[in-house]
Amino acid sequence: MKPKVAPFPMARLRRTRASGALRALVRETQLSAEDLIWPIFVRAGEGIEEPVPSMPGVVRRSVDRVADAARMAADLGIPAICVFPYTGPESRTEDCAEAWSPDNNANRAIRAIKAAVPDMAVMTDVALDTYNINGHDGFVENGQIVNDRTVDALVRMALAQAEAGADIIGPSDMMDGRIGAIRRGLEEAGHQNVTILSYAAKYASAFYGPFRDAVGASSALTGDKKTYQMDPANSDEALRLIERDLDEGADMVMVKPGMPYLDICRRVKDTFGVPTFAYQVSGEYAMIQAAAGHGWVDGEKLMIESLMGFKRAGCNGVLTYFAPEAARWLRR
Ligand code: PBG
Repeated sequence: MKPKVAPFPMARLRRTRASGALRALVRETQLSAEDLIWPIFVRAGEGIEEPVPSMPGVVRRSVDRVADAARMAADLGIPAICVFPYTGPESRTEDCAEAWSPDNNANRAIRAIKAAVPDMAVMTDVALDTYNINGHDGFVENGQIVNDRTVDALVRMALAQAEAGADIIGPSDMMDGRIGAIRRGLEEAGHQNVTILSYAAKYASAFYGPFRDAVGASSALTGDKKTYQMDPANSDEALRLIERDLDEGADMVMVKPGMPYLDICRRVKDTFGVPTFAYQVSGEYAMIQAAAGHGWVDGEKLMIESLMGFKRAGCNGVLTYFAPEAARWLRR
């Protein structure tokens, strides 16, 4: 549909921009705290809130500090928290067995959040990278990332998360067939209402750099992730991946990274009309914080403008490290 415009001066498009009240009335997109999913990093130990140097304002929390964070988020109206574990070299192995341990730090954090704030939706990360000795999302055999054996492990990992009380399973590994396998596993185990938010269109991106520091994967990672994550040049392929994952039982889909891929968000929403999310990833956060830290940009305004962009591009919500700060800003 082409917007109608009368000839000047019958139409003066500045009329509806002339005051704050008019601008509010004609605003096409709303941003609220309910649109936000807050990713947090958890780690072993006690009483620890350790800053992540490449992500100013973000910390790694020991599990005993997670309940307080969840209560704070709930008070701000944030509906969901996504848990990412930091693992030191000592908990990384070739068989990644810690990934499906019921008592790994991620699963303990899930239980802590659900105990403190039962209404908070808890999202997980399903991928082997935080437990893998080589930092990859899948098992490596003879220098190759192997698909099907990885999928079996991912199912075990997802089931352990569902057992711990997760509401939203977030496979971020980009193996083929994992959504169907996880969905079947959840149904068979009686977790009919556990949802899957598939990282369906996840690109092989340099914007993940600070995250890999945060979870301890940077020094572990050998090579790159281009045989499983997408080529940033591709758009049609994203639609095929989304369709495939929806067919396999994904309830919601995600595009990642966010800001450089808003065209993908819009295509996904227009094509499928399904709950669509974007991940404003660590590098996007770090860029804004770094520029703001130098006084080169207004960080708060940039934060809100960038989040509004996701909503305008058709996203239902955004995973963002800014979640608490943005929710505080929106409340004012
Ligand atoms: C791992 C995973 C990554 C992110 C989320 N899950 C990193 C990667 O794929 O290397 C990145 C998130 C961010 O950069 O904020 N499976």
